[in-house]
Order: sequence, then C-alpha cells, then structure tokens
Amino acid sequence: MAKDKSIFTCTECGGTSARWMGKCPSCNAWNTLIEGSTEPAAVKNRFGSVHASLAPTSEVLPLSAIEAADFDRHPTGIDELDRVLGGGMVEGGVVLIGGDPGIGKSTLLLQAVDALQRSGMSTLYVTGEESGAQVAMRSRRLGMPDSQVPVLPEIQLEKILHTLQARKPGIAIIDSIQTVYSDQLTSAPGSVAQVRECAAHLTRAAKSTGTTIVLVGHVTKEGALAGPRVLEHMVDTVLYFEGDTHSNFRLIRAIKNRFGAVNEIGVFAMTEKGLKGVSNPSAIFLSQHSEPVPGSCVMVTLEGTRPLLVEIQALVDSGGPSPRRLSVGLDRDRLAMLLAVLHRHAGVACMDQDVFVNAVGGVRISEPAADLAVMLAITSSLRGKPLPKGFIAFGEVGLAGEVRPAPRGQDRLKEAAKLGYTVAVVPKANAPKKSDKAFAGLTIYPVERIEEAMQVVRGLD
Ligand code: TYD
Ligand code: MG
Repeated sequence: MAKDKSIFTCTECGGTSARWMGKCPSCNAWNTLIEGSTEPAAVKNRFGSVHASLAPTSEVLPLSAIEAADFDRHPTGIDELDRVLGGGMVEGGVVLIGGDPGIGKSTLLLQAVDALQRSGMSTLYVTGEESGAQVAMRSRRLGMPDSQVPVLPEIQLEKILHTLQARKPGIAIIDSIQTVYSDQLTSAPGSVAQVRECAAHLTRAAKSTGTTIVLVGHVTKEGALAGPRVLEHMVDTVLYFEGDTHSNFRLIRAIKNRFGAVNEIGVFAMTEKGLKGVSNPSAIFLSQHSEPVPGSCVMVTLEGTRPLLVEIQALVDSGGPSPRRLSVGLDRDRLAMLLAVLHRHAGVACMDQDVFVNAVGGVRISEPAADLAVMLAITSSLRGKPLPKGFIAFGEVGLAGEVRPAPRGQDRLKEAAKLGYTVAVVPKANAPKKSDKAFAGLTIYPVERIEEAMQVVRGLD
C-alpha cells in the first residue's frame, strides 16, 4: 500500500488521521490509531453517493412544509424488546445489539425474527458465527421446529447485499457484523476498517430498500463494541445486553434511540426455552437474605421509566500497605470519591482497609443516586452492623457532604412501599410533602447531609 494512501482510524472515536500519531487528534486517547486503507470519499459519508446525486434536485423547504410521516413500526411481539425499541422495529431503521458472548443475542433475535415471520413479515437471518445447522438446532430448542425464517450462512458483504437486494426482506439480522468482510478492502476481517465499511454499506442498503437491519456486535473486555465505537454513530438504535452470565436475568438497555427513549430497559430471564420477558422486574436484583446482614443496603434505581430495587453490597476488610478499592457494576472513581467524603464529612475512615462494592445480579448502575446506599453499605460493613430490615436509601452525595435529590424520588419511594419496605433514608427534596397512602407503611427520614444520614442509621440500631 502506498504511503500516501494510508489512513489511520481511531478505535475509540472513529476519528481519522493521515499519519500515525501516539494520540488520537479527535478524542486524545493514546495508542488507538490503527492503519486502514483510504476509502473513496463517498463511502465515508453514510449517505454516500446518494447524497451527492440528490443534492442538485432536493428542494429547500421550511420545516412546517415537510410532512412529518410517522415511522412504520413493527412490534416484535416480545414486549420487553419492543419497550426498549420504543414500540417495535422501524422500517429502514438500523439497530445495533451489543453484548458479551453467550449472553443471548442470537437467542433473542431468533425469537424476534421468528415472531415477525409468523406475523407475515418477510425476514432474513444471516449467520456468520454459526452454521445453518446450529441455528436450526437453536430454533428446535426454542420450540419452533416449524419456523419459516430464511437463513443465509454467509460472511461476504457483497453476497449479503445481493441477497438483500434480491429478496428485499422486511427485516434482516446480521449475526454478527464482526464476521462480515468485503473483498474490496485489504484489511483483515473483523478489523475496524472492515466492520465500519460493512456496516456503512448495510446501513445504506437498509435506507434504500426500507429493510430493517439488526447488527449483532460483540463487546470487548473493556466493554466497547469490539473496536468500532464508530458503529454507534452510524446506526439509529444501540441496544446493549447486560447481566451476569451466571444469573438467569438479562437486561437490555437502549443507549441511543432515534425512534424512542434512551435508558429504557427490557428485562428477561434465560430459560430452557429461550429468553422470557419479566414484566414486573422490580425485585429481581435483591439477594435473598432471610435476616439483614452487615454490608448490604437496598437502593431504588430508575431504569428508563421503571424503578428497580437493587441491592448494593460492600465488604470492608483490613488491607495491606496499598489497600484495594474494587467495584462491580458501579463506578470505581466514584467509589474513591465517596470514601473521601465519608472520611471527611462523616468521620468514617477506610484508609487502611480494602473496600469492595458490588451491585447484585450483574446490573450496572451509572446514576449517582446510588451514592447514599454505597456509603451506608460500606459503613455497615465496617461497623459489622446490619441495616434494619426493610431498609432502603438513595440519593446523590456531593463533595461537600450534601445529599442531593434523585430524579423522580417519589416514584422510587412508591415502589419501595409497594414491595413492603418500611424504612427509607432519602434526600430532603425527595421526601413527600404531604402524606399519601402510596407511601403507607414506609417511615421516611429526609436528610440533607451525609452526617445526618449516619445519625439516622445509628438511631435505628
Ligand atoms: P446465545 O444467544 O448463543 O448468545 P450470543 O449470541 O449472545 O453469544 O446464547 C447462548 C447461551 O444461552 C448459551 O450459554 C445457552 C443459553 N441458552 C439457554 O439457556 N436456553 C435457550 O433456550 C437457548 C437457546 C440458549
Ligand atoms: Mg451468537
């Protein structure tokens, strides 16, 4: 490859550079630039040449004069999936589904595509990871031996595009995008350049034929969709599978959705016969202690529109010269910050202790409303004293030790009351102003500062 034809693409942000640099000029990440071939300008644009050829003929219109056609949605009939999609698959939409290997991506999509085929939609399942026989075996296992879903075991982009053109299915699943490669590119299958170009071509095909395309993507250990975060910009909807492969529960979260709300989640249980939706998931992320144990605090997190009760566990144990701080499902930097706040404002010192925290059930909690529960769990473990039975807490804690309100606090409290929780320590601004029977049975302690929260808890011993 001639030197001047080379282009370097960042695996993090997809930014490009004409020469190799240690640091990506777009996102400043280190050592992320890798070499790929130059693509023609049109390919770089997701509308490609279509854009160029339409340019002279398109009219400029005021927004009000443009007809706002509603999207044609096709519900998959799997309620939890439709919920994250914002009501169903959208015609011509491109969905990216990411997740760890073995988490259930192929299972869910096969169930969805079979349901759509049965409802009369034309479908296509392109499998690059598994042979047709393996897919057939899965369909038997899922209890659909008579499935009419057309399966194409193929990994070459041009052949896939040809089949899409010829059959014009309503929906096509590409399982997975990392296995697809194009002859036109010199880079190896699975490389960033390949994945990006193949996804761009498929996206264009989706827009021109009105086929809904679902791309399956693998997630690397670091949690990014292997190499190309770039795919996230190209597609309309990005869904991620979460959950512990050891537990039966799986969450699907919408990270981006041009056709619906983000952060909406769908909850599934992996059963003998595939994934089953869990319509009332609020209590599944609690471990089942019969009596309260030290180092455990339940919080109410808000996932999209649904409150979920999640148990936060902490273990504080005497550490070595450089004590460890580890977190599973929670942000580690935030943990370090909370420990500092705990020391400075509540006089709870963990400097010489190892601190481990975990969100039970493999959920990932990114909202700061978990702060108070994390801090109370840590203190409880340190003191060796359990929090009272039926106790919940939530609220963000700031560097000055102030407890800040969580969004939609009352909905969270209502959910806790509904599930029989009896004691709540919450930010003052989240406490209900007037009594409401939705909170019946729940004693609410509003707090403004972390010291106050500690005092309340000590008073409950
Ligand atoms: P799969 O959909 O192949 O995962 P992915 O495509 O994300 O890699 O899921 C595979 C796992 O799910 C495998 O460990 C077996 C399990 N499984 C069930 O428990 N029940 C089922 O009915 C099916 C089809 C799979
Ligand atoms: Mg798979």
